[in-house]
Amino acid sequence: MALIQTRELTKVYTLGKNREVFALNKVTMSIEEGEIFGILGPNGSGKTTCLKLLLGIAFPTEGEIEIMGENQFSITAKKNIGFLPENPYYYDYLTGPEILKFYGKLFDIPSSVIASRTEELLKLVGLYEARNLALKHYSKGMLERIGLAASLINDPKILILDEPTTGLDPIGCKETRDLLIKLHQAGKTILLSSHFLSEVERVCTRIAIFHRGYLLTSGTLNGLLNEYQAENLEALFVKAIEKFDTAEAKQDVV
Ligand SMILES: Nc1ncnc2c1ncn2[C@@H]1O[C@H](COP(=O)(O)OP(=O)(O)O)[C@@H](O)[C@H]1O
Ligand SMILES: [Mg+2]
Repeated sequence: MALIQTRELTKVYTLGKNREVFALNKVTMSIEEGEIFGILGPNGSGKTTCLKLLLGIAFPTEGEIEIMGENQFSITAKKNIGFLPENPYYYDYLTGPEILKFYGKLFDIPSSVIASRTEELLKLVGLYEARNLALKHYSKGMLERIGLAASLINDPKILILDEPTTGLDPIGCKETRDLLIKLHQAGKTILLSSHFLSEVERVCTRIAIFHRGYLLTSGTLNGLLNEYQAENLEALFVKAIEKFDTAEAKQDVV
């Protein structure tokens, strides 16, 4: 059974009286246990919308979502998903352990479990030494890592990350990438989105290319490179988008 399954997932935003934005168009995809699945696409291609629908914080216009066999609003879904938004905001004057305690309490986790998980998670993300430091002294990379730790406080099966490396310097990117590999090895299934083809995508077991709300293609990186006769991810991306735009232009003529 897929951990995440969508069927013809569609989201239309209505702006004003008669302007509609098709943010997501009939997206059908499944994510299996143990994958690092990357949704890649330019800005505005529907990545965040897709993640918001999976998280149950936006409502689909049409289509269905199953998380571990239940709908996205179920307790099962909430219990088993950890989420790191694109630009997380945390209180400047709290320390790492205080942030984790706050999130742990939201999940109603017993204090003793929060305490042991906090130590474990801070060590995992390399912030244990900085445990007495307020977040206002953190670098961007450190903020990303405390965000990751916070999203893991409920020990979720699935970790969803929106643009995890955007705005990070190369060292921050590498740290995030190494952490994702570590989490994957520890048994987490990871779903991430990204608009720039950094090295994070290279850790993905499968990728899906989004464009104007459509899922153009998905598969393993090597499989797709072969299929599109592309020498790298960037070339593949351009080819997949060109192919779609050409097909659509032909349809318009007919
Ligand atoms: N709350 C909203 N109201 C209206 N339009 C939106 C809203 N959120 C996103 N959109 C539009 O939906 C499309 C997809 O956006 P988004 O999912 O944020 O893309 P991405 O994350 O790939 O950059 C864009 O055209 C965006 O302007
Ligand atoms: Mg986005």
